[in-house]
Amino acid sequence: MPSFLFLFHFFKMSSLLQAYPKGFQVTSLTPLQPNFLHIFKIQPRAPRTPSYYKPPSLFMSFPTSSNHKQPKMENPIWQNPHFFPLLLTCTFFLFPLQPSLSAGLQDDYIRQPPRKVVVAPHLRSKSDPQQVHASLAGKEYMRISWVTDEKDVASKVEYGKVSGKYEAMAVGNHTSYHYFFYSSGKIHHVKIGPLEPATTYYYRCGGHGPEFSFKTPPQTFPIEFVVVGDLGQTEWTASTLSHVDSKDYDVFLLPGDLSYADTQQPLWDSFGRLVEPYASRRPWMVTEGNHEIETFPIIYPHGFKAYNARWLMPYQESGSTSNLYYSFDVAGSHIIMLGSYTDFDEDSVQYKWLESDLRKVDRKKTPWVIVLLHAPWYNTNLAHKGEGESMRKAMEDLLYRARVDVVFAGHVHAYERFTRIYNNKADPCGPVYITIGDGGNREGLALMFENPTPEVSVYREPSFGHGRLRVVDESRAHWSWHRNNDSDSFVADEVWLQSLTTTKSCWHNTANTDGSKSKVNKDEL
Ligand SMILES: [Fe+2]
Repeated sequence: MPSFLFLFHFFKMSSLLQAYPKGFQVTSLTPLQPNFLHIFKIQPRAPRTPSYYKPPSLFMSFPTSSNHKQPKMENPIWQNPHFFPLLLTCTFFLFPLQPSLSAGLQDDYIRQPPRKVVVAPHLRSKSDPQQVHASLAGKEYMRISWVTDEKDVASKVEYGKVSGKYEAMAVGNHTSYHYFFYSSGKIHHVKIGPLEPATTYYYRCGGHGPEFSFKTPPQTFPIEFVVVGDLGQTEWTASTLSHVDSKDYDVFLLPGDLSYADTQQPLWDSFGRLVEPYASRRPWMVTEGNHEIETFPIIYPHGFKAYNARWLMPYQESGSTSNLYYSFDVAGSHIIMLGSYTDFDEDSVQYKWLESDLRKVDRKKTPWVIVLLHAPWYNTNLAHKGEGESMRKAMEDLLYRARVDVVFAGHVHAYERFTRIYNNKADPCGPVYITIGDGGNREGLALMFENPTPEVSVYREPSFGHGRLRVVDESRAHWSWHRNNDSDSFVADEVWLQSLTTTKSCWHNTANTDGSKSKVNKDEL
């Protein structure tokens, strides 16, 4: 038995190390991981300072009150034989370190530490729907997903424009999965529609339980997206979601790392219940992060078992063969969700799908093209440095030639906005890159940025928060980043963006920054 457990733990550790990209290490058991499957826990290997850390002053300060007696200095410190070696050490090592520790931190705001995991209890009957969430599922359609403990509940949704009066009904599919000793409830997915734009619908799932409602997105501009990465399920998550909910929006975009269940399947259920009040009222569109992988050698080699079963996205509707990457159109915007943890090189299915998807974009119908992925291609934080580089090298040309407007990423637990970039240089025809992996995960913030700040990095700050992209018309969009200031939300960064569709110079001049000619021009898109 002991040897079995040893082998089990060995394989568990191997699987986690394989599943997670380079830059991760294994740390010991925590109270959050009580069962024997979770002897090991993955943490970023990048140096982390405690969240309550404040850069130390290199100079000691002493009380200056007249009541305080200064000690008489009988032997001046410079007569100490260790003084000058210590001074040299400070000069060459500690002084250069000081600015890099403080880079990205503002003097007037104290970084907040991670907060406790929030476990949302199951308070309804076994037949009642729980973990209800809505997502866009093709033109004029939405998908309602939910879970029931009771297996006999039908996968049907009744809906209508008046509360309690359901004039339409749709039937869908269900699935379930096992993960070692865990068995999921019945996971229902029902596509409903056609639906009218900008309209509130009331709905009931499976013929049981409470009534829910959602608002469909508008048909055209303006539209407001909320963007939150690395959401997790902590008290910070709850804070972020309450800030998101305090102002209306149309579509929620999540660039990976949802529940941080990390193989503890009941935490997927808890996450679903925590987000239900928000995700049942607006479409939530997500892509996967590393915390969704959950592979195990031989038994679960492909990963994403819980993620794919629970968070079904419109991949089939967008011609993709995988739930790990897809696209959709909404109100003049073409949104592409890419997968950082599936193949992306030039011979991969994802690459070919992306190439084809971009070719089909009609900028007259969708002047804005926005991409979301998990591991950032551009990142000046010391956490996860370079982890998105191989994907950038493989796919950046495709996005550049298609004149993608914005690329959102998560993974790094901080906020950072770049200028328009192509191939590591500022380029007026490249996408704006924004990292927003600061939704509220349990691992805390990534406090340390490289120093000096590279010119392409416009604003960076390690705080929890969320972003809003309000697309006003075919040309203009307002981006704002809202930092969580405890119970308040504070706009710490904002900028107006212009769509590349209306930036004529980017279509006439198709030369790349390296002097080569772009293969794609506007007529081909
Ligand atoms: Fe991540």
